[in-house]
Amino acid sequence: MSRGQIYSGAGLFFLCVAVLLVTGCAEQKPMPPADEVRPVHLPDVRTPIPLGPDARQEHRAVMLQHLETIQAIVAALADEDYRLAQGLTESHLGFFMHRYAMARQEPADFPPAYHDLAMAHHAAAEKLADVMPTKDLKQILPEFNNLLKACVACHLEYRLRHS
Ligand code: HEC
Repeated sequence: MSRGQIYSGAGLFFLCVAVLLVTGCAEQKPMPPADEVRPVHLPDVRTPIPLGPDARQEHRAVMLQHLETIQAIVAALADEDYRLAQGLTESHLGFFMHRYAMARQEPADFPPAYHDLAMAHHAAAEKLADVMPTKDLKQILPEFNNLLKACVACHLEYRLRHS
């Protein structure tokens, strides 16, 4: 092998390494962390539920009460009043609340999948109420998280039609 051949062979080798490095680096796009915050300007892909003004008002009242209940439950937990936390969860978010909301709203106005999400939410509340007597936050918080996830799941799927 002549010296010229060695040089050109080595040149080719370094060229290949350089190309690999550059393309390799170019393909390594920095990935955002998996749990990064959602972009703010998402298109609204929620399914609208057409309700009349009265039904919309009624629905809103239930929702605002849900949030107030969550606040009251957290306050009860902070006070270590697990009995109050259980009572609030059961009566305001459990199946009792479901029957009450059903009586005040027109179930036929809502799509079946909405009912499923509502039932999952009430079921999560019942499970949370059940673990309150343990007075053990390691058991309570995961169920609380599941309840909040059920709120979020429905909010991602549905909106009331804004007219
Ligand atoms: C089965 C569906 C469903 C579940 C479960 C649900 N929500 Fe809602 N909620 C809605 C819909 C639909 C709206 C209206 C959103 C819109 O039109 O933009 C709403 C709106 C709200 C609002 C805004 C009310 C306003 O001022 O207009 C709050 C607060 C709220 N929900 C709290 C909660 C909380 C807290 C939970 C859980 C404890 C919960 N929701 C569970 C469907 C649900």
